[in-house]
Amino acid sequence: MNSHSWLLMFIIAAPLATICRTVEAAYEVDGIVKLPGQPDISFQQYAGYVTIDETQQRELFYYFVEAATNSTSKPLVLWLNGGPGCSSVGAGAFSEHGPFKPNAAGVLVHNEYSWNKEANMLYLEAPAGVGFSYSANASFYELVNDSITAKDNLAFLQRWLLKFPEYKTRDLFITGESYAGHYVPQLAQLILESRSNISFKGIAIGNPFLEFDTDYNGKGEYYWSHGLISDHTYHLVNTVCNFSQIYRELLSLSGNYSKPCELVVAQSIEEWPSQNFDYNDVTSDVCLSDGKSQFGSQEHHSLLASRFHPVSSLKSRQSGLRKQEAGVESIDLCVQDQTDKYLNRKDVQEAMHAKLVGVNNTWSVCSKVVNYDYNNMEIPTIGVVGSLVGSGIRVLVYSGDQDSVVPFIGTRTLVNRLATKMGLNTTVPYKPWFDCDKQVGGWTQVYGENNKLSFATIRGASHLAAASSPKRSLALFAAFVAGKPLAA
Ligand SMILES: *[C@@H]1O[C@H](CO)[C@@H](O)[C@H](O)[C@H]1NC(C)=O
Ligand SMILES: *[C@@H]1O[C@H](CO)[C@@H](O)[C@H](O)[C@H]1NC(C)=O
Ligand SMILES: *[C@@H]1O[C@H](CO)[C@@H](O)[C@H](O)[C@H]1NC(C)=O
Ligand SMILES: *[C@@H]1O[C@H](CO)[C@@H](O)[C@H](O)[C@H]1NC(C)=O
Ligand SMILES: *[C@@H]1O[C@H](CO)[C@@H](O)[C@H](O)[C@H]1NC(C)=O
Ligand SMILES: *[C@@H]1O[C@H](CO)[C@@H](O)[C@H](O)[C@H]1NC(C)=O
Ligand SMILES: *[C@@H]1O[C@H](CO)[C@@H](O)[C@H](O)[C@H]1NC(C)=O
Ligand SMILES: *[C@@H]1O[C@H](CO)[C@@H](O)[C@H](O)[C@H]1NC(C)=O
Repeated sequence: MNSHSWLLMFIIAAPLATICRTVEAAYEVDGIVKLPGQPDISFQQYAGYVTIDETQQRELFYYFVEAATNSTSKPLVLWLNGGPGCSSVGAGAFSEHGPFKPNAAGVLVHNEYSWNKEANMLYLEAPAGVGFSYSANASFYELVNDSITAKDNLAFLQRWLLKFPEYKTRDLFITGESYAGHYVPQLAQLILESRSNISFKGIAIGNPFLEFDTDYNGKGEYYWSHGLISDHTYHLVNTVCNFSQIYRELLSLSGNYSKPCELVVAQSIEEWPSQNFDYNDVTSDVCLSDGKSQFGSQEHHSLLASRFHPVSSLKSRQSGLRKQEAGVESIDLCVQDQTDKYLNRKDVQEAMHAKLVGVNNTWSVCSKVVNYDYNNMEIPTIGVVGSLVGSGIRVLVYSGDQDSVVPFIGTRTLVNRLATKMGLNTTVPYKPWFDCDKQVGGWTQVYGENNKLSFATIRGASHLAAASSPKRSLALFAAFVAGKPLAA
């Protein structure tokens, strides 16, 4: 019911905004004066809406952070979170690699490893129905699928570039993680097909979901080799029912398993923690304030377990738990919880020109409103990645190596197989790369002339690599946009 009063408020407020837009430069009204609790900065930030469909009143929200220094000579980088249905603003910008992260007191703490050191960062809160993005036509949400998302993202990019014309000829990179393994390559392909004058240079995708069978079967081996399942269960996985089969049955039959798969799921559930464990980072502690690991990975367990035993919700005190990355002061494990609180503040929403319309009266990092057809998950995107490489687009596929959600095991296999299929020779053989502290940052292999296809792991990093390993992630990102090899 509250959402109706919000809707009403914004209908009243809308004409004023329209008038302002006609008298100022298109982007100026989106300029952020100062975010609540923000330290002083020397770069400009913008946030607001780009209408992508006038008749259905679909508007996508964005947050744009200019590069911290020399912004005019730095590329434009679009970032997309996965889900599908997770927010690039709440996850990517405020919990991973944006210029600040909210602390427990609601103060924005400067992020020393912000990606805007290397690029102008554009965070797109897509698709409609996610976070602050919306469609006035609620029935639309049911219809979201990969191809709609890619078209919407292209429309967004083209219209955003009209709003910010100085970026029209700037080198563009498209980046993202997890389910963005679908929509980053798909958007990239549409850009090439559209023959627009966008100076599109490359993509980087982290722990990407690229191919159903290989990605899901990589999980079984990962669980076993990281001690999350027993030898006995792993034997069942290899002989009775594998994880791609389990997920296929779960997603297509709403959790009705065949007898063999039911056996494996029941056995796995017995061995997995039902709470206080982060499947996004098997070495991490969790924030205990909400009992959930970040980004709904508890749901990962409850999803499989739903037919076996209900997962109790847990509320306990705020915890000051922190994790350490080499050379980094410490990682705040409660950052997602704090971002939820921060982005739900009315003063923050006002400062960001954000509205909650048509969806809900609460901002949340991942939306259940966006219903993707399961069939979209079955569409492999690794072939699209191959066609991009074939078109001369630079491609980096990277993996936080502590992630069990989309583990590096499947990703490495997929990239290697793609290189073989395309006849790309190895130019840098599989070997460790080193971070700025001369520690092993991870492993890397590079393929093809001009080193156009790279695979890299980030050692110790989670599914949200830049959240858990900000320093190494920035080193990887800097090398990628500069087109330089990782330090040997
Ligand atoms: C809402 O979306 C549906 C499906 O795309 C479309 O058929 C309908 O015309 C839309 N309604 C409005 C009011 O835009
Ligand atoms: C900015 O660009 C100028 C000219 O290219 C260069 O001399 C300077 O070192 C750059 N500053 C930074 C902080 O990158
Ligand atoms: C996606 O949705 C559009 C519009 O509803 C539909 O035409 C298309 O077939 C769908 N694509 C897939 C792959 O489901
Ligand atoms: C691309 O740029 C060329 C040269 O400036 C121009 O003639 C052409 O119309 C542009 N194409 C598009 C799709 O904007
Ligand atoms: C996984 O299980 C399915 C169904 O039994 C089977 O077709 C497929 O080959 C298996 N995949 C692997 C990698 O074992
Ligand atoms: C799943 O099983 C339940 C109860 O056994 C049944 O009511 C339901 O129709 C099944 N769903 C599918 C999609 O088969
Ligand atoms: C709306 O928000 C409420 C409270 O956070 C939540 O319980 C509900 O699931 C949300 N509805 C949708 C459709 O996201
Ligand atoms: C790849 O390496 C093989 C063996 O060294 C060589 O014969 C072939 O020409 C190379 N292919 C390309 C595309 O460089």
